Amino acid sequence: MGELIAVVSGKGGTGKTAVCAAVASALAQAGKEVLCVDCDASLRNLDIALGISELDALSFADVLSGNYGLNQALQHPVYEKLRFLTAPVDWTWSEDRKKAFYKMLMKAKKKYQYVFLDAPSGLGTGFRVVTQESDQILLVTGYDPASIRNGGRAAEELEKLGKAQVRLVVNRVDPRLFSKMKLTVDDIMDETGVPLLGLVPEDDNVTLAAAGKMPLLTKTKKGAAAACCRIAKRLQGIREPISI
Ligand SMILES: Nc1ncnc2c1ncn2[C@@H]1O[C@H](COP(=O)(O)OP(=O)(O)O)[C@@H](O)[C@H]1O
Ligand SMILES: [Mg+2]
Repeated sequence: MGELIAVVSGKGGTGKTAVCAAVASALAQAGKEVLCVDCDASLRNLDIALGISELDALSFADVLSGNYGLNQALQHPVYEKLRFLTAPVDWTWSEDRKKAFYKMLMKAKKKYQYVFLDAPSGLGTGFRVVTQESDQILLVTGYDPASIRNGGRAAEELEKLGKAQVRLVVNRVDPRLFSKMKLTVDDIMDETGVPLLGLVPEDDNVTLAAAGKMPLLTKTKKGAAAACCRIAKRLQGIREPISI
């Protein structure tokens, strides 16, 4: 049975989509069967982060309609073990749609080793839907005291929902600030109350790869790409020291 991983944050723009795309690519590159589902209906952009925005992808709504099967999800042209379902442009969650979505996810877990759900921002319905059945939650925050505290707030919300398996990814870390602020890994975990899964550096290649319509891991093996590969290893239970 595969693992269902929700990628969430309280605030928008922390890099959920970028981290989701790069970690999923790293797992597919390592030979794992991976499905990525964009769950950010109005502001979908996981296709861009995966470098496949030019290709026609089915949406999860197409699969829920019963007209298409999960096996028709778009196969990534570079990472053949990575499949992708985009978000429908216009979508609201009814009780029936939620039920059908969870059913689709249970099927997906039988077929794929990792199923990633890229969440919309905020702590509303979309957040609850993607976290509802997840085995693990990656909480992505920015790197500054306010963002880390915001991450802590989102973690509290997840605790209220009874979600235990939450791990933190601190994104856009500026290595110079990291040494100046003396904010240690332990401090971050104290502030958020969530174990740290990884630090991802600020890296222009994230935006440049998206602009060049290519996956981050194809553009570079360093910086944010390397950090996401380390996160992918930790998700597989492989020990990798936390560093930036
Ligand atoms: N580590 C990083 N370094 C530099 N830019 C980043 C990094 N992570 C994300 N970005 C940029 O920040 C913006 C928001 O990222 P995105 O993944 O869309 O956030 P979210 O999904 O949380 O709204 C994008 O323009 C993306 O290219
Ligand atoms: Mg996003």
